[in-house]
Amino acid sequence: MKAAIRTHYGSPDQIEITSLDIPTPKADEVLVKIHATTVNRTDCANLTAKPFIMRFILGFSKPKKPILGTDFAAEVVEIGENVTEFKKGDKVMGFNDMGAESQAEFTSVPAKNLFLMPENISYNQAAASLEGAHYAYSFVHKVDIKPGQKVLINGASGAIGSALLQFVRQYKVTIAATCHTKNLELIKSLGADKVYDYTSEDFTTDTKAQYDFVFDTVGKSTFGKCKPILSKNGVYISSELGPYSQNVFLPLVTAISKKKVIFPIPFSTQKTIPYIINLLKQGKFVPVIDRAYTLDDIAQAYSYVITGQKTGNVIVSI
Ligand SMILES: NC(=O)c1ccc[n+]([C@@H]2O[C@H](COP(=O)([O-])OP(=O)(O)OC[C@H]3O[C@@H](n4cnc5c(N)ncnc54)[C@H](OP(=O)(O)O)[C@@H]3O)[C@@H](O)[C@H]2O)c1
Repeated sequence: MKAAIRTHYGSPDQIEITSLDIPTPKADEVLVKIHATTVNRTDCANLTAKPFIMRFILGFSKPKKPILGTDFAAEVVEIGENVTEFKKGDKVMGFNDMGAESQAEFTSVPAKNLFLMPENISYNQAAASLEGAHYAYSFVHKVDIKPGQKVLINGASGAIGSALLQFVRQYKVTIAATCHTKNLELIKSLGADKVYDYTSEDFTTDTKAQYDFVFDTVGKSTFGKCKPILSKNGVYISSELGPYSQNVFLPLVTAISKKKVIFPIPFSTQKTIPYIINLLKQGKFVPVIDRAYTLDDIAQAYSYVITGQKTGNVIVSI
């Protein structure tokens, strides 16, 4: 099978398209033929081993899993002897932030990490509904959002932000969001009541607004800067550690304060993916797709995603 691999950590130039044996599924695994995957920010961290802490997970001096990829939408082609919940031909989807080896024509996956795709979406849409939406789930499920509250989403055009905006829309709240001028209409169409154009407005100076939740999905703000726009008992959550990794410690420091910081430690995919699938089935979540590449051009996809300027998700069609 054709696969995108890297034997050392580094830039997209390290990626090789090579030919490997098709894996044989173990007793509790399912062999799937991949139709679509994405290149996402987790893939970029897995390619570059940045931040450095990634090496403790992926392999210290070199990657334990040379085949790249964390998510997939695929078709079941072979079943391990102990697997009863899937059959050949099923359309399935899955995500593993530690590596699903899915930037290839086939991968073998433990059956417990596979989910049936909703019938109303394409392989590309299924692949685009995983990584960003998985992380977005932790923002809304670490807090208790009540009707009538005000939520601000910084970076609403990213994979996490565009999913989070649609998840927050499920609550009867007022939503403000930030994005670049080019995405203003998209972000309004996803359900934002107010949009700040970050190229000309600084949302942290809008102190009249008073938000119950500031969800920074791109980690471009700090709790200190957002404090004046948080309501009396407001909560700040960021997808990044912050300039001094302070978002890891601030939850402890602010535990007894009125305004709090929460770190969005991700939930298991057993919780996040069924939630995502439920919204997909009801048409309440439609993933944003920026563009698609072929497997042969995957290094270009990585170079684009590393810029941090994609809108929603970047697909690799296989
Ligand atoms: N904690 C975790 O486990 C975890 C997991 C995955 C990702 N992350 C982090 O989460 C962040 C977001 O990931 P993602 O996949 O959603 O990112 P992404 O898809 O790469 O999107 C970033 C988006 O943010 C926009 N943006 C850039 N600068 C901005 C600013 N100053 N204000 C508002 N929007 C801005 C960009 O739009 P324009 O450039 O077009 O303006 C782009 O659409 C990344 O920093 C990533 O490293 C964390």
